[in-house]
Amino acid sequence: MWAFNEPDIFKKILRMRQSADDIFTLKERAATPMIPARDISLLTPKELPPKKGLSFKEGQARLLHDLASIELQAMELGLRTLVEFPDAPHAFREQLFEVTLSESVHLEMCLTEIEGLGFKWGDWPVHCALWSATSSKDSLIDRILIVHRFLEGSGLDAGETILNRLKSIDAPPVKRAAERIFNDEIGHVEFGSRWYRTMCDVEKIDPSLDFSERLTKLRWVLPKRVENIAVEIRKKAGFTDAEIEYLKDLRLSFLGRK
Ligand SMILES: [Fe+2]
Ligand SMILES: [Fe+2]
Repeated sequence: MWAFNEPDIFKKILRMRQSADDIFTLKERAATPMIPARDISLLTPKELPPKKGLSFKEGQARLLHDLASIELQAMELGLRTLVEFPDAPHAFREQLFEVTLSESVHLEMCLTEIEGLGFKWGDWPVHCALWSATSSKDSLIDRILIVHRFLEGSGLDAGETILNRLKSIDAPPVKRAAERIFNDEIGHVEFGSRWYRTMCDVEKIDPSLDFSERLTKLRWVLPKRVENIAVEIRKKAGFTDAEIEYLKDLRLSFLGRK
């Protein structure tokens, strides 16, 4: 059984970490579920309950719980690409497996800190919007763009805002976890930028035209992202000036201004 079919979150992490042999000996594309198994209540993003402020322990735990749900989906999305694209370049698959393991570390870290604050996984419902932004019909380039450059890239924007909000709050463990995660995420997005260009090269596609064309085509399946674009961090993660300008326009269109 693949990790996304396992409902128990702790068993899911273990299963992911033990799946290297199955992943690297896979000969054919494996089937993936419409929605991965969960051991807690699943809602749409709009149905989720309101959040308390970060000066409250409950607000901090909720932030970590929301991050845990994102890390969980990131881990499952990594696995999804690994089992749906067994013929992708070996170096890509090896690096993606490392990224996926890193998501499992982020997830575990969030779960530990949630408990440290006196709360637990399942105290709030979660959504699966990141998983739902992908489809079995995605090409490998679509998938890299959606997961690593759009979803994880948007995570860099959100990360900058969250770290700023945490600056004035006395919560060292929460800050430590958030800093570690956002620092690692720059590397994950950079992995996506690098392989997006490599795969465009392989398919003789011009990435400077493809980026906006492909995102424009895919935007209807992507979750709305309205955070300010973290320009300097995006540059570190391999975005060109033109790509950043396109993302700023996309944000405005998500905000309904364009
Ligand atoms: Fe992560
Ligand atoms: Fe990540």
